Amino acid sequence: MMSESQELFDRARRCIPGGVNSPVRAFGNVGMTPRFITRAKGDRIYDEEGREYIDFVGSWGPMILGHAHPAVLEAVEKAAVDGLSFGAATRREVEMAELICGIVPGMEMIRMVNSGTEAVMSAIRAARGFTGRDKIIKFAGCYHGHSDAMLVKAGSGVMTQGIPDSAGVPAGCTADTLTAVYNDPDSVRELFEANPGQIAAVIVEPVGANMGVVPPAKGFLESLRAICDEHGSVLIFDEVITGFRLAPGGAQEYFGVSADLCTYGKIIGGGMPVGAYGGKKAIMEKIAPLGSVYQAGTLSGNPVAMAAGLAQLSILREKKDFYSDLNRKSDRFFGEIGKILEEADGDFCLNHVGSLGCIFFTGTEVTNYTSAGSSDTNRFREYFSYMLEQGIYLAPSQFEAIFLSGAHTGEDLDRTISAIRRYLI
Ligand SMILES: Cc1ncc(COP(=O)(O)O)c(C=O)c1O
Repeated sequence: MMSESQELFDRARRCIPGGVNSPVRAFGNVGMTPRFITRAKGDRIYDEEGREYIDFVGSWGPMILGHAHPAVLEAVEKAAVDGLSFGAATRREVEMAELICGIVPGMEMIRMVNSGTEAVMSAIRAARGFTGRDKIIKFAGCYHGHSDAMLVKAGSGVMTQGIPDSAGVPAGCTADTLTAVYNDPDSVRELFEANPGQIAAVIVEPVGANMGVVPPAKGFLESLRAICDEHGSVLIFDEVITGFRLAPGGAQEYFGVSADLCTYGKIIGGGMPVGAYGGKKAIMEKIAPLGSVYQAGTLSGNPVAMAAGLAQLSILREKKDFYSDLNRKSDRFFGEIGKILEEADGDFCLNHVGSLGCIFFTGTEVTNYTSAGSSDTNRFREYFSYMLEQGIYLAPSQFEAIFLSGAHTGEDLDRTISAIRRYLI
């Protein structure tokens, strides 16, 4: 008999491209039918067949408190009864901006948008407007959303599906996007030398999390800071994944390096569609209606989304030891996996930073896009499918992260470690 998920997927494919509203969800790379999810609670998600999984995707990052956290749900319910959208200024937007500016180092002004893609697109425009320059440098394997200028050697679904660049992006839109090598400051210096006085910004994922997980090498982020200072360019940390995850102040706090602008996404909405960009006042003052860089959004700062985000971020700020507990739990989890990989004595590379991590099936140390690409995706596919059978839901792609949350219990992590052991040894 056809499963509910299969039946839904067949229906979906008739009216939604590929049957999904975002490519990686299609499970295409692992050659399976996607699980259609009905509900989630804590560290568990449930599919249409009623199966239960320990979830390591966490909606790709935002569910850092676990799914359906009671305080976030209550905030959403309370806000919803007062109306879903006004298209006008609200108290919650002020509270949200004050909260984030109070937590994140160097955050002097912030603007809410609706997604990480929008946040990056807007930050790039702000940097260009501020410097009066056009060119930007990104890193191969870093994903910054699907705006035209950013779809150059992007990671995530673009990497998974083997699409180097997207069709439909005019050459003119990417002509000013220069690509450097992650963890290689010399490749950045060379681009600056070849394009004197033309680089508006360098944008980087402070931890690469869309080519699998790739930590910044010692001194890499510091070098970017120094190069941008030397050339009067804007350093943008894309903190869509790392923000409020590695530490309250994100990668800036975790690594002790400050950016000029930061972009945020899903995590600041607690599961609602939210993004934001902000940083130095001198740059943010260029944004309309204060300045001449236009950027707008009907649903930006949506009251229900703000309520969810405020609830989540308030808990993260107030819960003493949240981050040290999460990072300690993650260190133990990835440490145990590391021991298994050593015992299994094959070609593996385990990368992990705080509550983000991933296993690559390669004997090479993974430090950038090229080495990430050496992972054997057929072996990943087998591993993914085994884990799913064991009731463990990983991202259905080699080039995504494992996300741990405050809701993962020691018991569930041990169950996951045992499943990895059974698979590999
Ligand atoms: C680092 C990074 N930047 C930007 C984005 C785009 O965010 P969104 O999917 O909300 O548009 C993502 C998505 O995962 C991301 O990981």
